[in-house]
Amino acid sequence: MKKKLAVLLAGTMVMASLVGCGGNDAAPATNDAPAAEPAAAEEDTAELEEEVEAEAPADDAEEAPAASGDVISVGFAQVGHESDWRAANTQNYQDTFSAANGYELAFVDADNDNAVQLEAVRGFIQQEVDYICIAPIETAGWDTVLQEAQDAGIPVLIVDRSVDADPSLYETQIGCDMIAEGEMAGNWLAEYLDGAEAKILSIEGSVGASATLGRTEGFNNIVAQHSEWEVLDSQSGDFTQAGGQEVMESYIKSYSDFNVVVCQNDNEAYGAMDAMDAAGITYGVDGDVIIISYDATHDGLQYTLDGKINCDIECNPLQAEFAADVIQKLQAGQAIDAQTIVKDQAFVAPGITSSMATTMTQEVLDGRAY
Ligand code: AHR
Repeated sequence: MKKKLAVLLAGTMVMASLVGCGGNDAAPATNDAPAAEPAAAEEDTAELEEEVEAEAPADDAEEAPAASGDVISVGFAQVGHESDWRAANTQNYQDTFSAANGYELAFVDADNDNAVQLEAVRGFIQQEVDYICIAPIETAGWDTVLQEAQDAGIPVLIVDRSVDADPSLYETQIGCDMIAEGEMAGNWLAEYLDGAEAKILSIEGSVGASATLGRTEGFNNIVAQHSEWEVLDSQSGDFTQAGGQEVMESYIKSYSDFNVVVCQNDNEAYGAMDAMDAAGITYGVDGDVIIISYDATHDGLQYTLDGKINCDIECNPLQAEFAADVIQKLQAGQAIDAQTIVKDQAFVAPGITSSMATTMTQEVLDGRAY
């Protein structure tokens, strides 16, 4: 461990405690491997697997301390605590980069503030941590600070989301394929509607985030193949429940004729459902409006099992194992991959038959680690 980490840890305790105050009640994540393959949908799952590049690393790789016996210090600049997904992702990092596993984790919750996140990274550089993990709030604006980390000789891992920066400035990028997630949502809708018209309202995630940009691009790729579909509007709900509710309330005032609402995460979907409940609009398998969501967190899948969300596209938050595997390889002087794509799958409500998604059951929900 580098010398100044203890000071930094004390300094970041207050920010770290924000995670517990964010109102997220996702079940604590574990070090378990990401969810198993869907039981159904063999053919289209095979298609998805072509894009899948990563299985969870073996447990011994993720838990072994540095070969020298030294504690490895890791600074993690996290996006914030905006969603249940984020809470599960944070918990997964805290569980994986634990003292018992040979790490000292300095954690900063940037609360969706770019300036705070940049300062957090600069703080890690000053403290001379061994490795820095950044879950970038936005894709843009990273070259300078990444150059500073490289000049200081500190390897950087870009995690969860991606950056626009020169790839030579960081070691690797680990995360889900957001464009593929958007395409999965669009392809599922095409299968479900089977040629019927769609008037779509989209509630996007945070502006400038690769999760937002990728899901929007992927979904629009499929929209472009369907002249019978129309995207009426697309606005940011900031990946929060309050944001989803606010955008949906304003859509309800502006649009009287829509039959699909795409929410770019589960928390936004909860807000959108509240807004539609208040307006007397029905949704889900027995309703007038189809809801597509992303993340497939425990509560999102409960709503899917209840038939309120038609289709929930997974974004697996259990990614810390992959980061630990990269760090262990770098410690051992081994080659690492430039990119690790964490695998995702789609889930649909009972009563929906899909060739490309798993139909929700209580058993699937019970097996969910987050
Ligand atoms: O980057 C992953 C996205 O960020 C998740 O979909 C969302 O819930 C989170 O806040």
